[in-house]
Amino acid sequence: MPKTIVVTGTATGIGRATINKFAAEGWNVVATVRKESDLETHSDLPSVKTLLLDVDDETAAGPFAQLAQEQFGRVDVLVNNAGYYQMGPLEGTSMDQVHRQYQTNVFGLLALTKAFLPSFRAQRAGIVINIASITGDQGYPYNSVYASSKAAVAVLSESLSIELAEFGVVVRAILPGLHATRIFTKIVDPDPTTVRYYSGPDAVSIPRGKRILGAESYWQEFRNAVLGHPSDLWNTLISKPGTTPVETEV
Ligand SMILES: NC(=O)c1ccc[n+]([C@@H]2O[C@H](COP(=O)([O-])OP(=O)(O)OC[C@H]3O[C@@H](n4cnc5c(N)ncnc54)[C@H](OP(=O)(O)O)[C@@H]3O)[C@@H](O)[C@H]2O)c1
Repeated sequence: MPKTIVVTGTATGIGRATINKFAAEGWNVVATVRKESDLETHSDLPSVKTLLLDVDDETAAGPFAQLAQEQFGRVDVLVNNAGYYQMGPLEGTSMDQVHRQYQTNVFGLLALTKAFLPSFRAQRAGIVINIASITGDQGYPYNSVYASSKAAVAVLSESLSIELAEFGVVVRAILPGLHATRIFTKIVDPDPTTVRYYSGPDAVSIPRGKRILGAESYWQEFRNAVLGHPSDLWNTLISKPGTTPVETEV
């Protein structure tokens, strides 16, 4: 019997590419979109049921989890992909913008995860995949709000991966770099001790650079690069973002 995956934020980008991949591999898919005008996005894919969900609405999480389970009888995987990018200097960012960024990227994700956990615990199986970002691993300038929200996603995933292991629930974070491509190729045969999965050439090279340089030297090199003075060592160690588009059609 095919397994069922729920993916949030699938009208475009990584979410849409994820739907296409899992549908092509024979999964049952529950896709969410935020706007009614996007409800037909996956209408060419018979194994995909598309539902409306704004993850900002925490009261919708419980009823949505119930509805998602009713589509195919059970849910095996939840992918918390919905998110958006708040960029700019903190000084010019209103607290309302800060709250809205956290509402979508962190609080909405937590609310939805909570809503699926009772059924995952009852079936003693379930996978939660949270889409974080390489910015959650290191803070780029003009990214303090987005980067900190994604750092929260990475770390809460680590906490939950341990907290829920005894119930058979697996939690993983994916940290895409810019131009995230082949995002799911690294979770085909996961190492049970690995929680963070880096995706895209820039994201993959960053933890490798940290290991080679050590935390303090890495930070100095990173700082110089971001300030416009990358060293030859930095240019050798750290890859540029990939250029393969995530979506084959736009
Ligand atoms: N692209 C990158 O380089 C990159 C790198 C690292 C991490 N990420 C992360 O990857 C995830 C997907 O991003 P993407 O690059 O694929 O961007 P995208 O094309 O903009 O997709 C984001 C999706 O999330 C949806 N969304 C936003 N706010 C929502 C809300 N409140 N409720 C429900 N859905 C909502 C959007 O819906 P609407 O179309 O209705 O706005 C859209 O479908 C995000 O979490 C992002 O932070 C992306």
